[in-house]
Amino acid sequence: IPLKPFNTFGIAAEGVDYIVVDDIAMLAEIGNIPRDKFILGGGSNILLTHDPEGLVLRNKLKGIDQIKEDDTHVWLHAASGEVWHDLVMYTVDKGWGGIENLSLIPGTVGASPMQNIGAYGVEAKDTIESVTFWHWEEERLLTYSNAECHFGYRDSIFKHECKNKVFITSVVYKLSKHPIFNTSYGAIEQELQQMGAKPDVQTISQAVINIRRSKLPDPAVIGNAGSFFKNPTIPSAQFEALKLEHPAIPSYPVSNTTVKVPAGWLIEQCGWKGYRNGDIGVHAKQALVLVNYGNAQGDAIWQLSGDVVDSVKRKFGIELEREVQVW
Ligand code: EPU
Repeated sequence: IPLKPFNTFGIAAEGVDYIVVDDIAMLAEIGNIPRDKFILGGGSNILLTHDPEGLVLRNKLKGIDQIKEDDTHVWLHAASGEVWHDLVMYTVDKGWGGIENLSLIPGTVGASPMQNIGAYGVEAKDTIESVTFWHWEEERLLTYSNAECHFGYRDSIFKHECKNKVFITSVVYKLSKHPIFNTSYGAIEQELQQMGAKPDVQTISQAVINIRRSKLPDPAVIGNAGSFFKNPTIPSAQFEALKLEHPAIPSYPVSNTTVKVPAGWLIEQCGWKGYRNGDIGVHAKQALVLVNYGNAQGDAIWQLSGDVVDSVKRKFGIELEREVQVW
């Protein structure tokens, strides 16, 4: 089966053995098949560099249910194959707060704990109560609390101890009936002003949608997987030294001794923004995003990412880490 329609990078590859998972009961049987398993949700955070040799599992588990409620909060149980933005819109319509800043992020509910998706001052971990998954070896469903998921910046236990060992089936989110809005990200304030709107769940969601549409390429038009790299965290001392040479370098505090630097800025400074060679390139409005203009090969994108890493390393002494999962 051609995988090009199932990855937002739009890379052509063939999945030989392909199973649509639309029922949790299928997982026990699939687990008994002694093959590598590639789980395909929205396909929005992967780079295919060759045909996957193993089972490609397309997650179609569906359902959003309110499972609990009190005076201040509601708890929503969402199946992992639900489209993330559909879940966000569901909560925004109800006026429940917590994930409105995460509007329009491509991908599925199942990816939200995996890489702790984040944008505009909010991360999925802020609302995730628990994550349920099928464990291939233990042959049963397990539920981890938020703390057990070891969430970090674009990181969780599902990228480490649990990597390739589990199939996330559902996530419970705790949302607020009386939300406190997060407009700390400057661009949101600006956008709300332009819209002439007061911050509420709906207007913040719309502001985020407007900002994303203006900066990030629509995968339906130009293949991409969002940020290709993580924003690196570096020691404050290293940052101060860099600042002497590059006074404009932006940063966000992480701790007393470390700061985060936007990789997009570093990449732009190396001259990559808007770069294009055939069908591969670096997005003209956001240098953190690598793009496929049509029929790019996965390994050409991979090579480009290596060239970007090398040049940032040479100019700034910072080693960028890839955020996209490579198959
Ligand atoms: N910048 C540049 N040049 C660029 C891109 C960015 O100078 O080409 C500068 C901007 O001017 C700004 C700073 O870098 O000062 C930050 O840029 P932006 O607000 O666009 O956010 P980001 O740090 O580049 C991160 C996330 C995005 C998320 C935005 C908004 C990561 C890896 N990326 O990008 O997440 O939408 O913040 O919160 O943390 C994703 O993970 O796929 C993703 C799109």
